Amino acid sequence: MLNIALPKGRLGDKVYGMLEKAGYDCREIYEDNRKLVFENPVSGVKYLLVKPSDVAIYVERGAADVGVVGKDILLEYEPDVYELVDLKIGKCRMSVAAPNDYIEDMDSTLRVATKFVKIARDYYSSQNRDIEIIKLNGSIELAPILGLSDVIVDIVETGSTLRENNLKVLTSFCDISARFIANKSSFKFKNAAIEDMADKLRQMVANQ
Ligand code: PRP
Repeated sequence: MLNIALPKGRLGDKVYGMLEKAGYDCREIYEDNRKLVFENPVSGVKYLLVKPSDVAIYVERGAADVGVVGKDILLEYEPDVYELVDLKIGKCRMSVAAPNDYIEDMDSTLRVATKFVKIARDYYSSQNRDIEIIKLNGSIELAPILGLSDVIVDIVETGSTLRENNLKVLTSFCDISARFIANKSSFKFKNAAIEDMADKLRQMVANQ
């Protein structure tokens, strides 16, 4: 039996669709209820529905054998897991954004609002730019609108959140997509099952 941590929401739905097509079905998952664990002993899978940013924690600690997580989370938290397949879905860009009329003052410390503290620090240190981080947990776009920060570092997918809040991308510095990851000891002890799943996912990605 493989325990699979799936991110709840749109990305998780897409990933489940891929796994279902690959033979790891669990029809019960479509039922409208509040259950968080779905099991199909015939397909040999148990799905755990978790918050997207928690997937890597479940997998790193072995509560799940495998999981699907955004590259943004892997870069930010550097969990000790194997990254096996780039699923090429959930694509977005890690970007710096600011109000449409923003002009950067290079003489002052840049105030950066973000939930990706490490990613933002790494990016600005590569630019030799002094910054002050303002850590937020969501609705990051509000920060520069209210003068809480000068810019934000956040993921941009369609760009509509920025547009609707009169913000613009200043630069995009990293491509993000969903990754299939595995717990290191599960990869050793359940190797055939995990490799089999990874191979099927690779095939689906190649045929996309
Ligand atoms: C993410 C991100 C942006 C938005 C970008 O937020 O933080 O706000 O999606 O998508 P777009 O370019 O397609 O508009 P999320 O939906 O994860 O919610 P959050 O604000 O709670 O982080």
